[in-house]
Amino acid sequence: MTHGHPASPSACETRDPAPALSGRLSPAEVVSRIFTTFLQRGHRQYGESVTELQHALQCATFAGDAGERAEVIASCLLHDFGHLLHELGEDIADHGVDSRHELLGANHLARWFPPEVVEPIRMHADSKRYLCRREEGYFGALSPASQRSLELQGGPMSTEEAREFEAHPHFELALRVRRYDDRGKVPGMPTPDLATFRLLLESLVHAQTAVPAPSPSLPGA
Ligand SMILES: [Fe+2]
Repeated sequence: MTHGHPASPSACETRDPAPALSGRLSPAEVVSRIFTTFLQRGHRQYGESVTELQHALQCATFAGDAGERAEVIASCLLHDFGHLLHELGEDIADHGVDSRHELLGANHLARWFPPEVVEPIRMHADSKRYLCRREEGYFGALSPASQRSLELQGGPMSTEEAREFEAHPHFELALRVRRYDDRGKVPGMPTPDLATFRLLLESLVHAQTAVPAPSPSLPGA
């Protein structure tokens, strides 16, 4: 699959606000670290008049209300976590730079969460590119910010790319997460707070057996 990413930042421009320790963390410690990052950086503007934290909570709330399984709810909550791991500025897309936040977030979270959580995160920008190719009216219904970032992310998939995407083992999950992502942009929408999702996240943290703690990187950058 080819991707157009005309202006990706270098890895040295990113910084993990809670760098991984070499030792293993308990599920409670993992979730505490994630929540700390949200509390430190979740005030960043997602765009569309909601913050990153509000966007995350809204997406997870929509998924929970729809009766989705835990992995989908967690993926929704964490899908834009990569936005909290770089220091490229909140309006980076307006400057023509794709932060590749979907890869940054997925690579960071893969040390703790299973593919059912992580892969839809890694795929959520491509899911938009896919739906723009395959679903009539999808592009027009996207938020202005999502429409703007589409070109930076490579534009709509080609037919060949779309076929390849459909063969991905997490294709269905990725599209489900994307649908909630597209909805979670409601200014002032009340949601449960982060703590509501603690046990759900903890239940998904896998045993960190011999998984090295990679520093955030931007594959393909
Ligand atoms: Fe999002």
